[in-house]
Amino acid sequence: MIDLTDVHPRLVQPEFVTRRPLPPDELDKLSRHILALKKKLNAVILAHNYQVPEIQDVADFVGDSLGLSQQAAKTSADVIVFCGVHFMAETAKILNPNKIVILPDKDAGCSLEESCPAPKLKALQDTNPNFYTVTYINCSAEVKALSDVICTSGNAVKIVNASPKDRDLLFVPDENLGAWVMEQTGRKMTLWRGSCYAHVEFTHAGIVKIRQEYPNAPVVAHPECTKAVRMLADEVCSTEKMVEYCKRSAARQIIIATEAGMIHRLRRECPDKVFIPAPTGSCRCNECKFMKMNTLEKLYDCMIDLAPRVELPPEIIRRARLPIERMLEISARPIENAG
Ligand code: 13P
Ligand code: SF4
Repeated sequence: MIDLTDVHPRLVQPEFVTRRPLPPDELDKLSRHILALKKKLNAVILAHNYQVPEIQDVADFVGDSLGLSQQAAKTSADVIVFCGVHFMAETAKILNPNKIVILPDKDAGCSLEESCPAPKLKALQDTNPNFYTVTYINCSAEVKALSDVICTSGNAVKIVNASPKDRDLLFVPDENLGAWVMEQTGRKMTLWRGSCYAHVEFTHAGIVKIRQEYPNAPVVAHPECTKAVRMLADEVCSTEKMVEYCKRSAARQIIIATEAGMIHRLRRECPDKVFIPAPTGSCRCNECKFMKMNTLEKLYDCMIDLAPRVELPPEIIRRARLPIERMLEISARPIENAG
């Protein structure tokens, strides 16, 4: 049972009025309050690689969607504080129906999730009873409940290789990730027409230009990028695998084609290397507006309020849990037994 009698009050006092950027001493004070509160609540703070640096710096674990799901599946904390987007917090709730799962901003969505409403997916599934639905984790709990197996960008190739050979694969909702997985596995799939609004902003011309400026720098791209960008990349991988690649690489400078928050994580992990964010068009589209809805102040407030909370109907939790657990089980298999 959580005792909330002597935690700090909500962040309404003038000392914490939201402004950007927080002066270093306030940042430090707020971070210390969050860490104290975390202890008090027996909470774990899970943060995605795209979160703002100050959130990454107070988190217990920073990683990709796969790593975050694995952490959520094994945590013994009473409260899961999920700093990412809503579908990620939902996944943590599905794996922990009896725990409190909170997130700094409940409106932190995802363009991929929006592209795939459950009734539309169900209508497509009904056209072919032999469909086996492989669903990228960037979707709602209702869509997960309609799926045979979930995947992330970190394990999509392994999951598709392990999918039944006699079934027609339907891959939803990211057509770019799906197309890349088809290239890697040779499995034909029907692709849902969804995309990440931020990753499709990287262009072939932009990557060619930055390569000319840094001729010795390899390009690492997320598989949510278009084929025109992926074909210029030296490595295409999930955000966590980017960390592994950059650690291994002998290159001193590396061009990164993914959301801007990744650069902070990479600088922390590889302080001796220089990371160059790949350019997008004229806007700051390499920042995911949803991921950036979370701030350190909102993180503190959600821990004080224990809200917003993720709540889901028990029936959706029951049905959505199976394909997530299937993913976790396949992911844990050694490569040679995955197929
Ligand atoms: P990762 O699982 O590679 O971190 O990707 C999550 C995501 O939302 C990419 O846009
Ligand atoms: Fe969704 Fe794209 Fe944001 Fe990832 S970066 S959460 S795929 S909108």
